[in-house]
Amino acid sequence: MSFKQRYIGIINRYRDHLPVHDDTRIISLGEGNTPLVRLSHISRERGVDIYVKYEGLNPTCSFKDRGMTLAVTKAVEEGSMAIICASTGNTSASAAAYAARAGIQAFVLIPEGKIALGKLAQAMMHGAQVIQIKGNFDDGMRLVRQAAEHLSVTIVNSINPYRLQGQKTAAFEIVEELGRAPDYHCIPVGNAGNITAHWMGYSEYQQIGVVATRPVMVGYQATGANPFIRGEMVDKPDTVATAIRIGHPQSWKQAWMAREESGGWFDECSDEEILAAQKLLASREGVFCEPASAISLAGAMRDVSRGKIPQGAKIVCTLTGHGLKDPDVAIQQSRKPLTAVEPRLEEIKALILRAVA
Ligand code: F0G
Repeated sequence: MSFKQRYIGIINRYRDHLPVHDDTRIISLGEGNTPLVRLSHISRERGVDIYVKYEGLNPTCSFKDRGMTLAVTKAVEEGSMAIICASTGNTSASAAAYAARAGIQAFVLIPEGKIALGKLAQAMMHGAQVIQIKGNFDDGMRLVRQAAEHLSVTIVNSINPYRLQGQKTAAFEIVEELGRAPDYHCIPVGNAGNITAHWMGYSEYQQIGVVATRPVMVGYQATGANPFIRGEMVDKPDTVATAIRIGHPQSWKQAWMAREESGGWFDECSDEEILAAQKLLASREGVFCEPASAISLAGAMRDVSRGKIPQGAKIVCTLTGHGLKDPDVAIQQSRKPLTAVEPRLEEIKALILRAVA
């Protein structure tokens, strides 16, 4: 029996493509190396070859960890004792965990009452200073920028260039696993860092000759938080997919560039479409993602049915976060209410027989 080398995270794996030195102290939780799951039922039914990149299986259960390992590694290398971010939840969870790992303080600004419970639990458990603001993510982002001008704290939102450098490794993994770039890459868009990072990753692999082609990039937003579809900022964004409840995306120009250069497009999905795709994925394919993530599949399926994405295409959808992040929304949308029965075999038998009848 031969032993595989221990996997210890994206910085170690992609060191040659990332801005680190030989003696950089790496702050890692073993992020990356996430599964690319082929959706067998949905592919067969729709006549396409569709995969999901399950980023919910990162250490804090979202794609943010790929960027956070590098952002926190560099913050520590540069002597920073504190990091700060605004967040719809996942960035705060990731920042909190990597700060704990590094032994520095994290300050996280979250919109009051608008982040999923799992994410709040993570930030609190990892010892971040959680600051709830009576405003939305965009207000938080403005305050974080202002605070960093006055205080010695490192911003770890995706305006920190190291975040995108780390997140581009998801594109590397996809290419390596498929042996080529997909034809289409469908991805949720909120602050627009991740679509930008993926395009960087695909472009780098093309430049150095790993692949000949890059995918068409397709970005989806929720109908109530859709600045890229309107072509202008949105002041009061709202959607059940709280992770992407953002009206003033920070990587505005870069995301438009990814769209232009790849020949892609932006489109929107309603909250109903998002929740239906989340349910379909969980119940038909066994993959549980949070609502914001499901928008990539909701949009892809619609674009396939409209013929915008052709039959036979190889499609990758990014599932940005795990379904357990947001248990409330998952339970609320379950059609059958939960009831309790007496602990007797007859009761159980009756229920099972009724269900299979
Ligand atoms: N999906 C999930 C689950 C997210 O948490 C986010 C962003 C996105 C998609 C959108 O990615 O911003 O790079 O376009 N969440 C940030 C946060 C804003 O604070 O956790 P993006």
